[in-house]
Amino acid sequence: MEIVKTSQSSKPLPSSVLKVNVSKDEPDPMKQTGESDAIQSPNSDRPKIEIRQMNFFYGSNQALFKVNLNIREHKVTAFIGPSGCGKSTLLRCLNRLNDLVIGSRVEGKILLEGQDIYAPDVDVTDLRTRVGMVFQKVNPFPKTIYQNVAYGPQLQKVRGRAILDEIVERGLKGAGLWEEVKDRLHSSALGLSGGQQQRLCIARALAVNPDVLLMDEPCSALDPISTSKIEELLHSLKQQLTVVIVTHNMQQAARVSDYTGFFLLGELIEYDDTRRIFTNPGDRRTEDYVTGRFG
Ligand SMILES: Nc1ncnc2c1ncn2[C@@H]1O[C@H](COP(=O)(O)OP(=O)(O)OP(=O)(O)O)[C@@H](O)[C@H]1O
Ligand SMILES: [Mg+2]
Repeated sequence: MEIVKTSQSSKPLPSSVLKVNVSKDEPDPMKQTGESDAIQSPNSDRPKIEIRQMNFFYGSNQALFKVNLNIREHKVTAFIGPSGCGKSTLLRCLNRLNDLVIGSRVEGKILLEGQDIYAPDVDVTDLRTRVGMVFQKVNPFPKTIYQNVAYGPQLQKVRGRAILDEIVERGLKGAGLWEEVKDRLHSSALGLSGGQQQRLCIARALAVNPDVLLMDEPCSALDPISTSKIEELLHSLKQQLTVVIVTHNMQQAARVSDYTGFFLLGELIEYDDTRRIFTNPGDRRTEDYVTGRFG
């Protein structure tokens, strides 16, 4: 599909669209608009993840077209766009979950700290340990709270009660759930509320010490209080790791993310710092989407 570059929009968007969390002192991000093949980086330091000229196919259907995007370490990057535009597909490519889809195919490169994650010698289990994922549908195991968090470390052959206790506590604290569950660690995870279960899934992901956490609409089934707990969590999590989140909630993207990529029909239309995407985007289609004129 041909991409038509649009000129800078003429006026800033109404302030109703948003409070963004990017401070004025932030350096410009790896700004990207339209079909440019070049990846622009303001800093010489390497991004955590580089996506280069990526195409993705489900059989003969192409879901992503020439995506170029740099994801910065210790930042929250949001993917936004209408349903079916490829956000989840791209997210799942970052830890090769799409490998499980028969007939799927990737072209281009995704580099994690400079290493091609699709190279033949990559151990996909290791990759998924480094790049964890939290899904829209809350999915705790039908086990105790403790066993849910200890599961990943145990698979990695971490043994010893004291070490596991420490990992479980750290994971639950990292997910902002410790205080609520510390007296019922050996009760079923299924007895937790939906919001608690989602934070348990985050604790489970954190327990294996990932570098990157992918979150696909993690709050879409949650109440506003649980949602705000997870949003607060993101601010502290990014001190330790890099977060990529898909959301349909524009206010959420504006509140939690440092950088935002807007996708349409499998193309990255614009990628910029979140404040700019929501207040003065470079592309008319981004402006229409973030102001609710379509999508
Ligand atoms: N497993 C699959 N097999 C075949 N086609 C798929 C599969 N998953 C997604 N697609 C197609 O790929 C395109 C992108 O889907 P994707 O799920 O990435 O979109 P999305 O932006 O995450 O949408 P939503 O906001 O609804 O979650 C869609 O046309 C979808 O139908
Ligand atoms: Mg999706």
